[in-house]
Amino acid sequence: GNFHFLLSRETNSTNEEVKQLFKQKRLEHDAVVLAATDKQTQGRGRRGRVWHSPFAQNLYFTLGMQLHLPMAELSGLSLVVGIAVAKALQTFGLTPQLKWPNDVYLEGKKLGGILIELEGNFEPPYSVIMGVGLNVNMVDNQQGIEQAWNSLALHSGHNWDRTQVLTSLIQQIINQTNIFCQQGFSPFAKIWPDFDLYLDQNVNIVSGQRVEQGINLGVDDRGNLLLNQHEQIKAITGGEVSLRPA
Ligand code: ATP
Ligand code: BTN
Repeated sequence: GNFHFLLSRETNSTNEEVKQLFKQKRLEHDAVVLAATDKQTQGRGRRGRVWHSPFAQNLYFTLGMQLHLPMAELSGLSLVVGIAVAKALQTFGLTPQLKWPNDVYLEGKKLGGILIELEGNFEPPYSVIMGVGLNVNMVDNQQGIEQAWNSLALHSGHNWDRTQVLTSLIQQIINQTNIFCQQGFSPFAKIWPDFDLYLDQNVNIVSGQRVEQGINLGVDDRGNLLLNQHEQIKAITGGEVSLRPA
């Protein structure tokens, strides 16, 4: 079939699993891959950071598909998936926020993250790897997460059914990704401010040693962050897509 499921109790990283599958197999053009696991031993965030992934508490999953999009549009994908996650959480009565370009927040604390990777081709269709980690029932910090974090259980005082949350997330991600492929990023640019954690606030954009300061004005029609620096508007690219040769 065109749906490939990789479900496990433990794996290194669901993003890595999907990446390997894309490498090994030439999948049907409309194939969708879902890898979900109870525990990751090498869960990763951006730029090699660790994503803490304790057993049977949270959601760790990756959707893989081949998208017909111009390369220039791809940088918006991380925001599209973030908006999809936020919309799914809203259906449960929550009010999530997003921190550009790839973090999900609840009550000002990090609830989840999105990691987009690419495999292979340097021309469309791109094999995109969309990884999502969401804290669901984790309530203690045995993992030693070094920044303020949240989970659905911490927030609401009760445990959540992970399968139910996963189902809603996947539906939204597939729906919003379809809209993105058909209409581009502009519909998402319109609703991004509804979720933006630091909208209209003074922010620092740090890249290595370089720091840029300005007021966060939201995003443009590509998903670039718009920074107001003394009435000069500067667009900042997320660089959240890591392109690696096959
Ligand atoms: P940015 O993406 O803007 O650079 P960031 O500092 O959150 O923000 P990321 O690479 O996105 O960096 O995420 C990795 C970081 O997230 C880790 O360094 C850790 O501080 C935090 N983190 C790791 N695991 C979890 C988790 N399960 N829940 C919440 N936060 C986590
Ligand atoms: C971030 O905030 O930097 C992104 C974190 C992404 C974590 C998810 S968990 C499932 C998938 N597999 C990984 O190794 N990372 C992503």
